[in-house]
Formats: sequence, structure tokens, C-alpha cells
Amino acid sequence: MNWKDKKILVTGGASFIGSHLVDSLLEKGAKIRVVDDLSSGRLENIQHHIDKGAVEFSQGDLRDDTVTRAAVKGIHVVFHLAADHGGRGYVDLHQAACGVNLMLDGLVFRAAYQAKVEKIVYASSGCVYPTYLQSDLKKELYLTEEMVGPPYDADNLYGWAKLMGEMTLRAYSKDWKMKTASCRFFTVYGERGVENHAVIAMIARAFIKQDPFEVWGTGEQIRNWTYVKDIVSGMILAGEKIDDGAAINLGTMERTRVIDAVKEVLRYTGRKAEIKLQPHMPTGPLNRVADNQLAKKLLGWEPKMKFMDGLHRTIDWYFSTKKPDEVKAIFHRMLTER
Ligand SMILES: NC(=O)c1ccc[n+]([C@@H]2O[C@H](COP(=O)([O-])OP(=O)(O)OC[C@H]3O[C@@H](n4cnc5c(N)ncnc54)[C@H](O)[C@@H]3O)[C@@H](O)[C@H]2O)c1
Repeated sequence: MNWKDKKILVTGGASFIGSHLVDSLLEKGAKIRVVDDLSSGRLENIQHHIDKGAVEFSQGDLRDDTVTRAAVKGIHVVFHLAADHGGRGYVDLHQAACGVNLMLDGLVFRAAYQAKVEKIVYASSGCVYPTYLQSDLKKELYLTEEMVGPPYDADNLYGWAKLMGEMTLRAYSKDWKMKTASCRFFTVYGERGVENHAVIAMIARAFIKQDPFEVWGTGEQIRNWTYVKDIVSGMILAGEKIDDGAAINLGTMERTRVIDAVKEVLRYTGRKAEIKLQPHMPTGPLNRVADNQLAKKLLGWEPKMKFMDGLHRTIDWYFSTKKPDEVKAIFHRMLTER
């Protein structure tokens, strides 16, 4: 697909990932509309584009049908990222709010179809994978796309809503010949990330010199944190190359224990603190790492950023842009909110 002069709607485009997607699509010459209710997105992430007239921004709640119908009018491709979503503390503790995503996704998809939008690319999640597969720390498990199947066992209502979103889009492709694609993001981090996600929370704890330094869980949990610009390049490739509603993993295959990431944050920032494990706090699945062979095959996509390099970059960004008093004021609320 040639993005030049394509009219693109990025729902939730003021978010962490959405704003990086907007940057990349603009570089490719696309014309961008962002609709975001700013419930967790931040206008400052895209303000410079709005000021230059490069992005048409409208603040609105996409759960309101009139907003949704206006949003998709005249659009070629929808990148749908708007969601009631937060980090582990949020998705574990706010089930009803995340359940509303079922309605939000349904409205956006139907409005796009009715407006004859050519294609929808959907921000799905590793949370669609059955949680029962991800509980054994001793297994060197890589989640492959077809593991999402009966018996389904998604991660919280947040994960169920993403799963239903994927299934709906696959059905739109099959029954109504609409081009759709779903991208399963695995724990994304990078510049503009917020404290309700683990990597930014670790960096924030170091930044405010927390001691003892709290770690949710036993620290043994394994993740494959994936750098935001890799996620964005995969999502754009999915927009170019997947039409049949297939869902692909966008994630690295690097296996990192939470405790090792914490130790590196402390080492790199020169902080010395006692580590206090908090096994009673929300931790999510113990062992979650993607297999990314299908993305390689279908999209020619591979993550470019090694976790340690991306972590250092993200620390440098956080330490150079934040103020300790401001972080201290929001930090505890952000761990379970958005
Ligand atoms: N961050 C991750 O690790 C991760 C992992 C998997 C999937 N995702 C998905 O990626 C997308 C972006 O997430 P993110 O982490 O960048 O930040 P985010 O959760 O802040 O992004 C959601 C965006 O949607 C907007 N929004 C929410 N409800 C809305 C509504 N009703 N109407 C209009 N706008 C609304 C928010 O203001 C925000 O800008 C989300 O769909 C999320 O579920 C993120």
C-alpha cells in the first residue's frame, strides 16, 4: 500500500503507541485524523502535529455513535487503538470498564464498514492467549498464533474484549469481504510510555529514589517487552499486507525476568536500594513470550530494538523529561489507574 495521501483515522491517536503511529504515518505522507477522548491519551503527544496542521484532531468519545460515524467519514484506513486500557494493576482491577471495549470496538467496526472504509487494523494484545498456557515458569514457551483457540481463556475482560474484536474482524473479512488485520502487541515500552506499565513503573521508582524498591510479584515473571517503534512498524506492515482478518504477534522473542529488568534499571541509573518483593500485588501470567515467526513470514517484520538498548533509551528519556515532584504526585494512583 502506498500511504501517500491516504486518509487515515487513528482512534486513540493521542496515546503512547497511537502517537508514535501518527509520527510514522505522517512520515509516509498519509493524511491523519485522530479521534481521542483523552481519557488516558495526552494531547501533548501530538500537539506539534496539530499546530502544524498535519493532524486533524477531534476530542470525542467513540462510544457515542454520532462521534464514531463522523470519525470514519471519508477515511480509507482505520487504525483502531482507542480502548479502556491500562497496565496490569488497571486491567486486573477494572473489569467492568474494560468490558465496555466490546461496545467501543463494535461501534467503530460497524461504522467503518458502513462508511465503506477500505481496511481496519486493530490493536489487539497478548492478553488474548489462554492464561492456563502461561503459568509454568520452567517451560521455554513461545506463544504461536494458533494457540488462541478452544478452550479460550483470555486474560481478564480486557483480553476477552480484544479476542472478540479479533473474531469480529475476521468475520467481517470472511462474510463481508472487508479488509481487516489484527496485531497482538506484547507489553510495549518506550518514550511517552506511562507509569501504569511495568517498565515505566520501574524507571519511575528509580527516578523518585524509592527505597525499598517495590517489585510486584516474585520477580520471576517472564516477559518479552517490545519497543514501541517496532510495534508501529509491524502495525503499518500489517496494514499493507494482511487483508483476511489474520491476527499476528508483534513481540520480541527475548525472555526477560522482571527481576533482571529491575536490576538493570538500578544499575543503569546508579541507584542502590533494597528490593522488596510484593507477591500479593497483581502480576499477570508468569510466562508470556511471543513467537514472531508468522510476522516474519507474512510481513517481513522483525523487532529491531534489543531490550537492553531500548530500556536504556527509555530511561534516558524519562530522566531527561520528568520532574521528581510531579512523578511522586501521580505515581501511586497511576499503578492501578490510567
Ligand atoms: N501498552 C501496551 O503494552 C499494549 C499492549 C497490548 C495492546 N495495547 C493496545 O494498544 C492501544 C494503545 O495503548 P497505549 O498503551 O498506547 O495507551 P492507552 O491505553 O492510553 O491508549 C488508549 C487511547 O484511547 C483513548 N480512548 C479510550 N477510550 C476512548 C473512547 N471511548 N473514545 C475515544 N478515545 C478513547 C485514550 O484516551 C488513549 O489515547 C490500546 O488499544 C491498547 O489496548 C497496548
